[in-house]
Amino acid sequence: MSDTTPYLGIPGEKSRALLARRQQFVARGVSATMNVFAARAEGAVIEDVDGNRYIDFAGGIGTMNVGHSRPEVVQAIIEQAAKFTHTCFSVMMYEPYVELAERITRLAPGNFPKKAIFFNSGAEAVENAVKIARYATGRPAVIVFDNGFHGRTLLTMSMTAKVKPYKYRFGPYAPEVYRAPFPYPYRMNMTPTQAADACIAELRRMFVGEVAPDQVAALVVEPVQGEGGFMPAPPGFLKMLKALCEEHGILFVADEIQTGFCRTGQMFAVNHDGVEPDLMIIAKSMGAGMPISGVVGRAEVMDAPPPGTLGGTYSGNPVACAAALAVLDIYEREDLAERSRQIGRIAMARFAEFQKQYPIIGDVRGQGGMLAMEIVKDRETKEPDAQAVSDILAAAHQRGLLLINAGMYGNVIRILVPLNVTDEQLNRGLDILEDTLASVAKTIATTVSSAD
Ligand SMILES: Cc1ncc(COP(=O)(O)O)c(C=O)c1O
Repeated sequence: MSDTTPYLGIPGEKSRALLARRQQFVARGVSATMNVFAARAEGAVIEDVDGNRYIDFAGGIGTMNVGHSRPEVVQAIIEQAAKFTHTCFSVMMYEPYVELAERITRLAPGNFPKKAIFFNSGAEAVENAVKIARYATGRPAVIVFDNGFHGRTLLTMSMTAKVKPYKYRFGPYAPEVYRAPFPYPYRMNMTPTQAADACIAELRRMFVGEVAPDQVAALVVEPVQGEGGFMPAPPGFLKMLKALCEEHGILFVADEIQTGFCRTGQMFAVNHDGVEPDLMIIAKSMGAGMPISGVVGRAEVMDAPPPGTLGGTYSGNPVACAAALAVLDIYEREDLAERSRQIGRIAMARFAEFQKQYPIIGDVRGQGGMLAMEIVKDRETKEPDAQAVSDILAAAHQRGLLLINAGMYGNVIRILVPLNVTDEQLNRGLDILEDTLASVAKTIATTVSSAD
């Protein structure tokens, strides 16, 4: 497939027809960034039903690190589906589940015996990590962070920070969830180190003012906050959290759902800080889009809940396990962590140029290939500009670049491009982004000056 078609005039006829059917039959609660429908995808390019092509800077929200439609993954899915698609692991077991557990436990950080268990979605894995931690410790409370995102089920929605759209009118929420601040140097007007120290001090205060540490089962943290706006934990922060957990017998749980599998330039983002989580939650890029997630961690913690307490009908489905095994082969064969670091270097250099040129860019940040820019109305006040981000996204889509947003205020543009993107596609995507930024910044400048 070639890469893009300029000024697409989307949605095309076929997408418009599907949109009408979608509006009639699909509940509006499930939203979509783009109003076009996918027909096929390969590597870092998606083609819609009208034949328009997009360089994919969203990667299925961080699911496609190995790239779309990898032949090895497709083949593994076909082969397993032809053998059998389901028995339910809790009824009759199958080898791909066991093999995946073996390989994931070897891959997860930590020089200690580990075990793994598999589920379908990220949220389901987060729920189960909390269940395991509660059973293992006999404690009820969970600590999470400002700007955190952990899913849309009752417990994970309660753990998630953003009110609208995730929580509003969906209460009452699950109890015993306590929220600590997460370092956000840009908005805290601090250096990363100062922000990290301030957050640790506040967590210590919470142990006096809000929840006794001996009642806390787990602290669940995203090493780079995803949905919240791509804030990487400052160097040393995760280590300090881990030390605090150890001091109080709290389990350190890393939510690596968006950061895992080479996205940040390491196999897992906790590797940057050399932290070994007691439990790690994985999903997204482990299955290249097949619904599979998991919890992996210390064997004695994982084995605390007795037989029958964990699982689910489809959990660790054999076709999804086969896909995940093929994905792991790719991670072993190709140095996608290094590729992620390269992507980070290329994109960050361009982001820095953009920031010099366009005052609407308040901050650029990221780790490896997990990159973002924060858009503001004014660099001094840092007032978020979600409208400008919507305009940038829409204009980029028309130019053949698939972009998505993030952030508490919806004013962050995030990049999760498949890591097998070619340099040419990456640079072309960045050119489109620049072109889009220029046109939206110009419109904003014109509107402001005509209002003066
Ligand atoms: C860090 C993190 N945790 C949990 C989830 C929830 O995963 P899922 O949407 O598969 O339930 C997500 C999804 O974006 C995520 O990024």
